[in-house]
Amino acid sequence: MNWRILAVTAMMTAVTVSADAQKKSSVGLASGEQGYTISKEIYGQFAEHLGSCIYGGLWVGKDSPIPNTQGYRNDVLQALRDIKVPVMRWPGGCFADEYHWMDGVGPQENRPRMVNNNWGGTVEDNSFGTHEFLNLCELLGCEPYVSMNVGSGTVEETAKWVEYMTAKDGPMAKLRKQNGREQPWKVKYVGIGNESWGCGGNMRIEFYSDLYRRYATYCRDYDGNKLFKIGSGASDYDYNWTEVAMKQIGTRMHGLSLHYYTCYTWDGSKGSATNFNDDQYYWAVAKCGTGLKEVLDKHVAIMDSYDSRGRVKLLVDEWGTWWDEEPGSIRGHLYQQNAMRDAIVAAFSLNLFHQYTKRVSMTNIAQVANVLQSMVLTKDDKMVLTPTYYVFKMYTPNMEAQNIPLSVQTDTFTAENERDKDHPRQSPFVSISASRSKDGSINVNIANADLKDTNEVTVDLGVASASIQNALVLTSGDMKDHNTFENPDKVKPQSFSGASFKNGKLIVKMPPLSVVTLTVKP
Ligand code: AHR
Repeated sequence: MNWRILAVTAMMTAVTVSADAQKKSSVGLASGEQGYTISKEIYGQFAEHLGSCIYGGLWVGKDSPIPNTQGYRNDVLQALRDIKVPVMRWPGGCFADEYHWMDGVGPQENRPRMVNNNWGGTVEDNSFGTHEFLNLCELLGCEPYVSMNVGSGTVEETAKWVEYMTAKDGPMAKLRKQNGREQPWKVKYVGIGNESWGCGGNMRIEFYSDLYRRYATYCRDYDGNKLFKIGSGASDYDYNWTEVAMKQIGTRMHGLSLHYYTCYTWDGSKGSATNFNDDQYYWAVAKCGTGLKEVLDKHVAIMDSYDSRGRVKLLVDEWGTWWDEEPGSIRGHLYQQNAMRDAIVAAFSLNLFHQYTKRVSMTNIAQVANVLQSMVLTKDDKMVLTPTYYVFKMYTPNMEAQNIPLSVQTDTFTAENERDKDHPRQSPFVSISASRSKDGSINVNIANADLKDTNEVTVDLGVASASIQNALVLTSGDMKDHNTFENPDKVKPQSFSGASFKNGKLIVKMPPLSVVTLTVKP
């Protein structure tokens, strides 16, 4: 593989790159730009029947020796409560378009088995179904987001599923009651298929658009439950998909999805999650920062041209890093470790999402446990929190706060790799976002991706004086550092003393390879 960092450049002449390996960035309020509320659902999760995401990750069953509440692991429940999970997408992913919900309700011993064709041919026993998922959402206090089977299911199956979950009375409600749940659940989000251009049926957007209209018609609002219907959207650079979806479906959708992975290639090796070189690291930073920004800008511009009022939301309902499966893990289960590099990717991506909340109302990192860029990894009765988890935890004050648009002057680098030649990217070393909470305090979130240099970031927030509270840093000596079952606390947040407020400016001395969050009380 030919990885290279092409150049390190100063984007603005005002920026000095000093000889003592300290860079400087300067940040101010962007004039004339309006900040929008950062929907808490930007911090959404995704639980797919894939590998040990559900079985072993979230669910062990009531009879398990692993401490659990009604079958859900206690350690994972607590970890997810601590990051205030706002919404959970389920049952897939590719799995959704082969899932037949009727197989997952009723007495567990009677539920038929199926082969999980997408993910390693594992036999799925359907012991985690609609009740288990929606009850989990209630336990976590999060919104459920249920993906319907458009690829291999029927309109009738979809219509009945919505009725089963949300109607007070009628044949489906009767069946639900027989299965032990008297009251309907509140289900807001339904996805009409997943990746319908690929594993969800290999359709053309022209065909899918009509299917969407048909399926969505029969997803009814029962008894005060109001559905938010989401069209299966594009991946990465497929702007035509978004264009035709907006033209042919338009405001019949409440939202349109987008999938974007920080992934070197779709065929062949994606590279190790814990063994990579500097160039591979910087390429990932550029892909999740500049690359994601370009993709969001283009999809949003298309949506704006059809829907200037922003009625159709964009939901990045799969994102995150995708590396090779861990050696020794089961093929097709997409189990990967999660290192400091992943934490930087999470911070760069979240900082960007904060800036798009006029259009982007939800994102769902893939996946919550044991798959791709997970929050937690589990092994038997052990659980580790990943560096990505800690970024999510540190960023929770931004939920429902108002984004503060910023203008940033900082050094950049350019990265490319031979498998992604069309996309050489110039990326900043430093990514920053800020938001104002309802109580008037300001949350500042900064990531310094530089592996060697500190970066002194001067932030002018337009406040004369302020006190700094809740200052945390996530950093580690090496970009490959990660938490293991043997050493679960290698990477974890520490309190941070490198920030001060002087002459009306916040000065943050960012260590190399670090994520810092601060609350500033004016
Ligand atoms: O997250 C893994 C898979 O990636 C999902 O099932 C699918 O939607 C996407 O291709």
